[in-house]
Amino acid sequence: MEKLTLIRPNLSFSDEIRAYRQEFLDLGSPLNGCGPLADMEDPAQWVVHTQRFELGEDIPEDMVPSTQFIYVRESDQKILGTIQIRHTFTPFLETYGGHIGYSIRPSERQKGYATKMLHDCLPYCRSLGLDRVLVCCMDTNTASRKTILANGGIYDGTVYEPEGQVNFERYWITVNEGSR
Ligand SMILES: CC(C)(COP(=O)(O)OP(=O)(O)OC[C@H]1O[C@@H](n2cnc3c(N)ncnc32)[C@H](O)[C@@H]1OP(=O)(O)O)[C@@H](O)C(=O)NCCC(=O)NCCS
Repeated sequence: MEKLTLIRPNLSFSDEIRAYRQEFLDLGSPLNGCGPLADMEDPAQWVVHTQRFELGEDIPEDMVPSTQFIYVRESDQKILGTIQIRHTFTPFLETYGGHIGYSIRPSERQKGYATKMLHDCLPYCRSLGLDRVLVCCMDTNTASRKTILANGGIYDGTVYEPEGQVNFERYWITVNEGSR
């Protein structure tokens, strides 16, 4: 069984962070669940950014603290995905964005990694005091919907986001003691 670990981004992964980001940019795939990584060429800048957001230090008033993990395969120390857990909500997150954002790098998709990564972050969500988490996906994102459903997501409804002109499906996953 492969060992996969959620790790906070740190400088020992600089080359991997660079390669991970580049793979998405080369293929034009959306970098979800990693904050502003798309705009940060220097991995050190992103590492510092994630640390600041976890502590809630010096963050813009319209943003909330969040914890960033990279999902690392132990055998080759490759970053397979990123997942971000927002500690609280802004009005946008409460309606459209949810608590959790994620992606898996294009070359590692359809191997069950997103399903496992979402599962593996739930104990951390519990440790933040969350007893359920809102996870949202666009109504066109079949892979993300299946990832959420495989983790026990309960459909709450679909909301239209006028700025992006997209429909978001909202799902709640229970994370209280003993649920999963
Ligand atoms: C969504 C995403 C994270 C899924 O990652 P993944 O590792 O490929 O997902 P999994 O392998 O765990 O697959 C989950 C389910 O989706 C299905 N799936 C995966 N890719 C699919 C695709 N392109 N089309 C249809 N179904 C797909 C899998 O077959 C699996 O279904 P199952 O439970 O019936 O077996 C990945 O496609 C991605 O990073 N996309 C870009 C960013 C993004 O959309 N993030 C989510 C924002 S809400």
